[in-house]
Formats: sequence, C-alpha cells, structure tokens
Amino acid sequence: MVKKKTCVFISGQGSNLKNLISRSRDNNFPIKISLIISNNKKARGLFYAKKYNIPYVLINTKFNNYENKILLNLRKHKISFICLAGYMKILSKFLIKNYKKKIINIHPSLLPKFKGLNTFSRIIKSKEIKAGCTVHFVNEKLDSGSKIIQKIFFVNSNYDEKILKLKTQKLEYKAYPEAIIRIFRYN
Ligand code: GRF
Repeated sequence: MVKKKTCVFISGQGSNLKNLISRSRDNNFPIKISLIISNNKKARGLFYAKKYNIPYVLINTKFNNYENKILLNLRKHKISFICLAGYMKILSKFLIKNYKKKIINIHPSLLPKFKGLNTFSRIIKSKEIKAGCTVHFVNEKLDSGSKIIQKIFFVNSNYDEKILKLKTQKLEYKAYPEAIIRIFRYN
C-alpha cells in the first residue's frame, strides 16, 4: 500500500497526533505522518515530532504571508492529506482551495452542536444527555464540513468538564484513525 503523505497541524497537547503516529506505523494504515505544523512553539505535541524524528515547521501567524509558508512546506514534503488535531487557527480559503476535500478535523462535540471553542463547559451548561466527537472534512465555515464519523456516549448528571474531556478524548483516539481508514478504504 502506498501511504498518503500526511501533515498534522497542532497547537497544543498533541495527544491525537501521538495516537495517529502510533497507528500510522501499522503497514496497513493508509497514511504516513510526513510533516507536523504548529503555530505554537510551546506546543507539547512537538515533543512527538522530535521523539519520532518527524520533520516539523513552526508557523508564526503574526506574519501576513504565513499561509504561503505553510503551502510551500506542504509542497516541499509532497503532502497530499492534512489532519487538523487541536489546531487553534482557522484555515483560510486559500489553503482549503489548494487541498479541497483533503483536509479533515476532529472536534469534541456531536456536530452540528457546539461548534467553536469551550465545548465542554457549554455541553455541561446545557445539560446534554449525549456527547461525543466528530471527524469531518474542513470547508470555509467553522466546524461545518461534511461528517465522516461521529462517536457518542451518554452524559451522567454528575459529569464535570474534566470527566467529559477524558471520555471524549478516549473516543477521539478511536474515531480519528477510523475516519482515515474510511476515507481511503476504496482508494
Ligand atoms: C481535541 O479534543 C480535539 O477534538 C480538539 O482539540 C483537542 C486536541 O487535543 N479539536 P490534543 O492536542 O490532540 O491532545
């Protein structure tokens, strides 16, 4: 199997990145993580880039042309697929156009509910019965592209944000690799 050269975008912890790196070491997994891009030089996820010897690029989003730098690096590393994993910047139309239907994201809610930030506190506040995560294609609108996979669990009334996050992320580690397999199954 020829693995798709993939770039993972991060800003923080990088636990989904870690999980994808580990899954992608399996010969039958359709992607190879060939590049990591972070907009945050303190992102803990960069530790995994160094540990597993994966090239990484830091992007300073204060510069106007930072997306050109992203695109140049994607091309340099022959990237054909992009996974956003806790990347806290909205991608511009420019990048999305260049990687149409080739960018996916994981979001910690049952989209279309709770798009955007502070998901867990909003879920608790609105006393949801169900929570979960969604992997979706990225389009120009925030957290709005078509769904690839969704995983659900039931919320107990005694759950706080910490438990909700733990439960959600546990499901994310299943959902993200499954979504990737689903995308490439017939390719
Ligand atoms: C995940 O919960 C994901 O749903 C959201 O950002 C978080 C990233 O966590 N988009 P990590 O950096 O992968 O640990």
